[in-house]
Amino acid sequence: MSVDRDRLGALMRDEENRFRAERPESERAFRRAARHMSDGVPMVWMAKWPGPWPVTVAEASGAHFIDVDGIDHVDLCLGDTGAMCGHAPPASVAAIAAQLPRGSTFMLPTQDAAVAAELLATRFGMPVWQFTLSATDANRALIRYARRVTGRPRILVHDYSYHGTVDEAYATLDERGDVVARRGNIGPPVPLAQTTSVVQFNDVEGLQAALRTREIAAVLIEPALTNIGIVLPDPEYHDAVRELCTRYGTLLILDETHTLSAGPGGMVGQQGLRPDAVVLGKSIAGGIPAGAYGMTEELAGRVRASLHLEDIDVGGVGGTLAGNALSMAGIRATLGSVLTPRAFEWMIARCTEWTAGVQAALDEFDVPWQVTQLGARAEYSFRPTPPRDGREAAEADDFELQQYLHLHALNRGILMTPFHNMALMSPVTTSADVERHTVAFREAVASLYA
Ligand SMILES: Cc1ncc(COP(=O)(O)O)c(C=O)c1O
Repeated sequence: MSVDRDRLGALMRDEENRFRAERPESERAFRRAARHMSDGVPMVWMAKWPGPWPVTVAEASGAHFIDVDGIDHVDLCLGDTGAMCGHAPPASVAAIAAQLPRGSTFMLPTQDAAVAAELLATRFGMPVWQFTLSATDANRALIRYARRVTGRPRILVHDYSYHGTVDEAYATLDERGDVVARRGNIGPPVPLAQTTSVVQFNDVEGLQAALRTREIAAVLIEPALTNIGIVLPDPEYHDAVRELCTRYGTLLILDETHTLSAGPGGMVGQQGLRPDAVVLGKSIAGGIPAGAYGMTEELAGRVRASLHLEDIDVGGVGGTLAGNALSMAGIRATLGSVLTPRAFEWMIARCTEWTAGVQAALDEFDVPWQVTQLGARAEYSFRPTPPRDGREAAEADDFELQQYLHLHALNRGILMTPFHNMALMSPVTTSADVERHTVAFREAVASLYA
């Protein structure tokens, strides 16, 4: 049952009019901002939100934010995971605020760093950690190290994955199955086929064929796809990936930046996965910049043996502010006191409620969409069954429909994650917050299908 496009167009116009009428202060802020920033936003992707101008935030606390027009929002986007711990979590804020007047960046460690690394080591079973300012940078560092220690030129990613602004990773397959740059890839330095192999998620045979060439330094994957909707692994998939990487001498890097939603130790902890390296970022410092990567003793030893002290500051793995004192204080407090195992139980329970609310509306109006949950994160997509790989998920994309649903939600005080239909729960998201979405989503579905 497809959506009537005329009806969708009319509904969208109504929502845009409502937005215009209710957000005059955001408009004023936007007009001023547009004078000296591209598209009136500090980072270009902020222009992609639906509506005639972006909502300007006044302040946020916990699972809510208030915009400059005084409108309260339940935040289910949570900074696309950057604020998964809730906005301004008191323990993280206290630790960061205590460090700030004592200095923030020294190019020397503080005592918090060792505690942060201990916490990560316990949760992810990886003994050796390094810190960056973003998950992107953590991925970049590991790709370089993987090439260095294996002496191999290529990496492998899943089709329709996202690992940040990493040159090698933004690749896809064309109709003939050849590796090409993803649509929208800006200024790739070389054709992606030179650096990257791409296989579909859950495709063990395709993975084996690629690894058999012994050209692949590292497989860089999310344990479940989360950036093209959620795509869960088949029950045996990760065992096969591990076995094949070991057999062909390829390093296995699991990017848990988003799949941390599965539990306190991400999917590595939840499913006992055994990668060579793990990547984290976004939320782990309570909302200030921090990324991290953990390595096995074996990989860390190979990396160490390959480096000369004299060269390590110019070797392509770095970042002047990486490992700074604020990030370290933030990680220590956030993992120690905010994103605790108990907090995850709460977040996952709220997400189960959210998923049930979405499913109930789909059932009531007999809508051929599906909803998938991954711990504290869930997402619906415009197809009847859960996708098995990124291509299937991508084929269900419907930008117009998505923009309508997001604007409908926004006008009812709910922020969904842009670019897809994802909702994330924080340790302070309540059942009442979830209910706000359940009511609005039912109304949106009814407007399209009743
Ligand atoms: C799985 C994954 N890895 C890495 C990144 C990059 O994170 P950042 O932009 O904070 O560097 C993202 C961003 O969405 C992501 O989803």
